[in-house]
Amino acid sequence: MDNIKVLIEEEKIQEKVREIAKKIENDYEGEITLICILKGSTFFTVDLAKRINKKVKLEFIQVSSYGSSTTSSDITLKLDLKESIEGKDVIIVEDIIDTGRTLSYLIEHLKGRNPKSLRLCTLLDKPERRLYDVNVDYIGFEIPDKFVVGYGLDYNEMYRNLPYIGYIE
Ligand code: IMP
Ligand code: MG
Repeated sequence: MDNIKVLIEEEKIQEKVREIAKKIENDYEGEITLICILKGSTFFTVDLAKRINKKVKLEFIQVSSYGSSTTSSDITLKLDLKESIEGKDVIIVEDIIDTGRTLSYLIEHLKGRNPKSLRLCTLLDKPERRLYDVNVDYIGFEIPDKFVVGYGLDYNEMYRNLPYIGYIE
């Protein structure tokens, strides 16, 4: 394997996932819809869903952003939800918030579909890089401004399958 340094160990991730799942469990009465943002948040969403002891529905959405542009209007929807979220308690699950561009686009987009509630959950947060003000309800770890891989996160589609979060030296 290339020179990848461990930033967050597998056990620490799983501990955090259980902690967030408990919080979510306590915050909601009924059924919860988790929206997984492909592909990065698949590992996190699945682990989280397994730990929430409530009725959970899974939905998937995918966006693509172009280059290093900094306006959210350059984001397009590649794959849309299969079911309506109207009147549902919805949580968007993200792997990492960097500038906040992806999430601010998705919030605007999904709010228009009239969910009963819409919250955000992210495993990782790089607050130093934020350009868009997004209010996140559940945050796993704040991390420094490093490019990280593993547990769903990729570098050119590689390293998603690492069980830990690491950074490339
Ligand atoms: P944002 O729209 O700038 O907040 O970027 C969020 C998206 O960029 C995430 O969903 C990731 O797919 C990707 N991203 C941001 N930082 C990293 C990183 O350090 N490693 C891998 N992907 C990242
Ligand atoms: Mg992503």
